[in-house]
Amino acid sequence: MHVSDAISNRRSIKRFTGRQVTREEMESLLSAATLAPNHRLTNPWRFHVLGPEARAAYGLALGNRKAKKIEDPEAAQTMRDNVANEHRALPSMLVVGMVKNENAEISEEDYAAVMMAIQNLSLAAVAMGLGTHIKTGAVMEDPAARAAAGVQDDERIVAIVNVGEPAEVPAAKKRDDASVHTTWLP
Ligand SMILES: Cc1cc2nc3c(=O)[nH]c(=O)nc-3n(C[C@H](O)[C@H](O)[C@H](O)COP(=O)(O)O)c2cc1C
Repeated sequence: MHVSDAISNRRSIKRFTGRQVTREEMESLLSAATLAPNHRLTNPWRFHVLGPEARAAYGLALGNRKAKKIEDPEAAQTMRDNVANEHRALPSMLVVGMVKNENAEISEEDYAAVMMAIQNLSLAAVAMGLGTHIKTGAVMEDPAARAAAGVQDDERIVAIVNVGEPAEVPAAKKRDDASVHTTWLP
């Protein structure tokens, strides 16, 4: 597949088929990720590939956070169970971390490199007939979620990436034409 087709066809995939992503497929995606541009070649990325039990534990941490906003105890428990089960059922889930750095410039460069790695992975997934969904949020700092993903103290979670075979590919979301946000200088 030409890279321009992978770029045009990529979508955030919210529904996956039941097919599991194989270890070989995930290794191939992670190899693509590590080819991202990386100033100073710091290898800032840390990839945590969560199996079903780890996914359920991560989902429970997220479900607990959502349940706190629900007054009815039964409905809160249903929320916990549902979110944990939804995560267990994912075809695969990746927690992408980066090594923290006290130097603000290096930290920003490393964050950018990790995001470029995620983009590489997302485009490589399209070329392999797979889809991705990037997720972020305050849960990334939750100790229970971090523990579920095996994230070390010196790591910051940058994003969660669900990966799988799309059950449904949404229509493209409208973007402004680049010309709207482009200035050409002499
Ligand atoms: C840094 C980042 C964080 C995102 N976080 C979430 C998220 O927490 N939940 C979610 O449903 N989608 C999340 N998305 C996906 C975007 O909502 C999605 O890319 C956007 O709606 C455009 O749709 P498309 O990816 O199909 O083109 C995130 C995307 C990026 C790049």
